[in-house]
Parts: sequence; structure tokens; C-alpha cells
Amino acid sequence: MTKFIPREFIQELLNRVDIVELIDNRVPLKKKSGNNYFACCPFHTEKSASFSVSHNKQFYHCFGCGAHGNAIDFLMNYDRLEFPETVETLAKQLGMEIPRETRMPEKQAAAQSSLYDLLESVSQFYQKELRNYPRAIDYLKKRGLSGQIAKDFNIGFAPAGWDHVLKNFEKQKFQLHDAGMLIKKDDGGFYDRFRDRIMFPIHDKRGRVIGFGGRVIDQGEPKYLNSPETPIFQKGHELYGLHQALKANRQLKQVLIVEGYMDVIALFQQGIQYAVATLGTATTPNHLQRLFRYTNDIIFCFDGDNAGRTAAARALQVTFPVMKDGVQIRFMFLPDGEDPDSLVRKEGKDAFEKRLQDASSIADFFFQNIMSQTDINTTDGRARFVKLATDELNHLPDGIFKQMMFEELAKKSRTTVEQLLQPKKPAATPSVTQKAKSPSALRLAISLLVQQPELASYLKEPLPKLDLKGYDLFLQLIDIIHQNPGLNTATLREFWRDKPEEKLIAKLAQLDHMVPEKGIEQEFLGSIERLTEIGRKQTIEHMLIKASQSGLSEEEKLNLQKLLKIQLFES
Ligand code: GTP
Ligand code: MN
Repeated sequence: MTKFIPREFIQELLNRVDIVELIDNRVPLKKKSGNNYFACCPFHTEKSASFSVSHNKQFYHCFGCGAHGNAIDFLMNYDRLEFPETVETLAKQLGMEIPRETRMPEKQAAAQSSLYDLLESVSQFYQKELRNYPRAIDYLKKRGLSGQIAKDFNIGFAPAGWDHVLKNFEKQKFQLHDAGMLIKKDDGGFYDRFRDRIMFPIHDKRGRVIGFGGRVIDQGEPKYLNSPETPIFQKGHELYGLHQALKANRQLKQVLIVEGYMDVIALFQQGIQYAVATLGTATTPNHLQRLFRYTNDIIFCFDGDNAGRTAAARALQVTFPVMKDGVQIRFMFLPDGEDPDSLVRKEGKDAFEKRLQDASSIADFFFQNIMSQTDINTTDGRARFVKLATDELNHLPDGIFKQMMFEELAKKSRTTVEQLLQPKKPAATPSVTQKAKSPSALRLAISLLVQQPELASYLKEPLPKLDLKGYDLFLQLIDIIHQNPGLNTATLREFWRDKPEEKLIAKLAQLDHMVPEKGIEQEFLGSIERLTEIGRKQTIEHMLIKASQSGLSEEEKLNLQKLLKIQLFES
């Protein structure tokens, strides 16, 4: 829905909100110097205040954990909201109306919201039906569920028969079909998808019913039947139990990923109120990224048998691309023949949580898994071990975690990190056409611009022509600033939301360039002057090469002479 909110509106919103006030309402701030404020960081545990908020930039940054952003980022992270929800919240707070025609097409929005309402009604219908069927109630009791927990999870029952839901919601049968509750017959009629099953409503994190899982009571196939994918239900995104876990905990210290509905519910009933289950699919990177919004510690729970090991190895692959510093993922294996449901009932909360503490780190499990496929006591085996491991480890995003994994690999394979990294990149043959590394002048110029966009007005055309890594970004930045007068760091940041350069921009936004307030304009122009010089040198180099290969035209020769003269005077 993001794309339906116009950028101008977001700019206006950020111009009206004051980040200092917004944060101060949630995390009391202390004034430090000038227009800078400090507090203990709300995004990691710390004793001394490393969280700083700049009034001028309308930006926050934590020197401890690296959290950073504008008012929208703060709310997204602190109140755990998605981008559109955050914009809605801020707009409401400021009494602003999100422009209509650009929101999700009215019809589509209305249709979706009525699907939520409809599924809520169906869920209530199933819950009411449950009371009429002692056979269903007995089943739940037999599985150890209390009346309270059945209520907490809104468990219901879909009676046997082809048309209970159809008859009860006849008028909305087309919507019911859209929501996956009815199946269409060849003659165009409909019948109930869920029949004679215990019904588990699936909620999104806000608590809206988006689908169902249904379990047979006795024998029957399939054991569990899930809603199909619908406009409001995407299995690769949703997690069963997340809504209840968020409701029960202000902060989720850890999240346990289990396999089944009954596992989540049994754990919850025993006091472990932080388990979620994927919905009959494997865990996706998207699932993990969502969970990392709420917690830094994810524990996968697997059966102790071979199938469990295989599932764990597969999960490992999914975790790698999303591993970032400051988060951990662990793997826990249950005794053979047990699942979390059976085990937690048998041994209770404390013993189960004790097992969580013994879960293997991703590093341990990773190396164990690869070592089980190779023999590291032979040279050949070690080489294979290193090959398998580096292939995987190269998928990790750069950071401390990656570095530590390579150090561990070096130790295990009795080599050094240098040796492991060496063969990866053959030394590139230097060439003038290859983009040079972004020099400090460019970094400085970009970071000054990101921090004080108004500096762009001091620039004189034409800008130097340069072949440098990062120079495109610089030009783009200037273009944006010229075209959108009045930008600050916070509003500028929005141009890169969800773009690859997002991280770099944020980093430069808080780079301490050590330039005193008074000298900033000078320093900025100085950095541009240095870039111009670099540009001159590059052009000279290019032309000299051309001169030696294909020769220069008269005009080019004159140009070259001029450039060489300038260089002579300046160096
Ligand atoms: P109980 O027997 O009720 O304790 O379930 P369980 O969770 O122990 O069963 P199992 O390990 O068989 O299934 C784990 C999860 O996989 C379930 O919660 C479902 O989400 C899913 N699942 C199980 N069986 C089926 C099936 O037949 N079809 C589909 N689509 N999903 C299933
Ligand atoms: Mn089970």
C-alpha cells in the first residue's frame, strides 16, 4: 500500500512532526548540547545513554546499537508498525488527512476490510457451534486444553455438513469464496470448505482474522486443512500465535518457532507465551525479518528425529541472508517422539525453558551439520569442509557475525582467516576505466549534504564529471535537493526507503565529520574543489591513454594542454 501514499504528503508529515517531542513522549530525553538530546537507547539494553536525537536533522542515532532514522523509523521500530500504519498514525496525531485518490483504490480497500469483518463473524459462528457439540469439546479436553485457552485462541468447531457457513452467510457467499471459506462447484454453486473440523482462526498481528486451520477430530485426511492464499492471507508472511504473543508481552525477549497449532497453544497454556508456528509451509526469510522487528532472539524448535534434522538444515539456509549483527538464531532439538505440545505437558514450563537455554547457536549447528558431511581429520576432508562452509558463509551480510564465523571456520580447519579469504578474489588488473574507490572528499561532500541539504544552494554549475564509486548518488542527491526545496535529513531519508542505498545514506546522516558549525560551508566547497581536481586528473589520464592509442583531435589536444596547465599551477 506504500505506493499509494504520495511522497509530498510524507514530506509534509515529517515537516510537521517534531521528532524530539515524539520520542520524548515515549523515552524521556535529556538536553545535551545545542539542539541535541540524549537518552538510554530503547532498542537495546544499556546503562549509559548512547541514544541521541538531533532536532536540526530530525534524526535519531544510537552509538551503541546503530539504530537510526527519522520519526517514521522511530515509530515503526518502537510501536512495531509497518510503514503505512506508521504514516496513518502520525497523520491522525497531527490531524492530517492522507490524500484520498492516492490511497489504495477505494473499492479494493472497502472489499478487504469487509473480508476481515466477515471472517470475524465466521470465527464467532464456529465458536458458538463448538458449544453445541460435546464430541468436539471432549476432544479439546482430552488434548488437555482448558476452557480459558480455547477462548484465548478463539477455537471453534465447523459442524459436519456441506452448507452451514454458506446458509448462515448466504448474502455474502461471493466474499466468502474470496476469503477461501467456500469451494465452487461445477454448476456454479458453493459448499463449505471446512466440515467437521476443530477450527483455529489465524489472526494477523493486529488481531484481525485472516484465515483458518481446521483439524479432524478422529481419523481422516488431511489431518489439518488450511485456508488457501487469499487477498488477506499470505502464508509466507503470517505466523500463527504472533498476535497472542504480542498481546501477552510488551517486549518479546525471544520467540520460539514451532511446527503446529497445538504446539503454540499448549506452550501458551503452560506459560510459554512466545511461540509461533508457520502455517503448513517452511519458514521464509520474510517470516524471520518480521520477527526481528519484535525480538533479537529466535529459537527454532525441531523434532529430534531425522526429519527434524533435515528441516533444521533447510531452515539454516533461510536464516543466513537475514542474519545481522545484534540478533541471534538458535536451534533446539526435542527428544525423539516428542513435539512441544507433548513435552511441555509432560515436564512443564521450567524444564522446557531449561531446554531452550541449551539450544545450539547457529554457529554450532552450522559447523556440526557440515562436519557430519565431511571428515576433517584428512586433508581432503578438511578442504571439502572449507569449501562447503565458505560457499554458505559468503551469503552472510558483512558484519561482525560473518567475521566470527570465518574465524571459527579458520580454527576448525586449522587455517587462518587470511588464507580462507585469499583465493576468493583474484587481484583485479587496475584500469583507469574501473571506478576508483570513493575518496574521503566524496564521502565528506555527501555526508555534509545529507546532514544539511541547504548546502546544495552554494554549488556552482557545472559539476565536475567524475568516474567514482558513489558519485552517481551524489548527483542524484543534488538533483533531489534542487527539486524539493526545504528538505532536511529526515525528509531526504524517505527518498531511499527500501532502496539499496538506504543504509549508506543513514550512515552518512550521522557520520561525525568534526567540522565546526562555522566552517561547514567552506569545508563543503573545499570538498567539491577536491572532486573537481580528481575529475581533472581522470580526464587527463583518459586523454593521455587515448593519445597513445588512437591519437587526439586538435580540440582535444588544446583541452589537454589547458588541463595540464591548471594542474601544473595547482600542484
Ligand atoms: P496434532 O496431531 O494435532 O498434535 O498436530 P501436530 O502439530 O502434532 O501434527 P503434525 O506434526 O502432523 O503437523 C504440524 C503442522 O503441520 C500442523 O499444525 C499443520 O499446520 C501442518 N499440517 C499437518 N498435517 C497437515 C496436512 O495434512 N495438511 C496441511 N496442509 N498441513 C498439515
Ligand atoms: Mn502434536
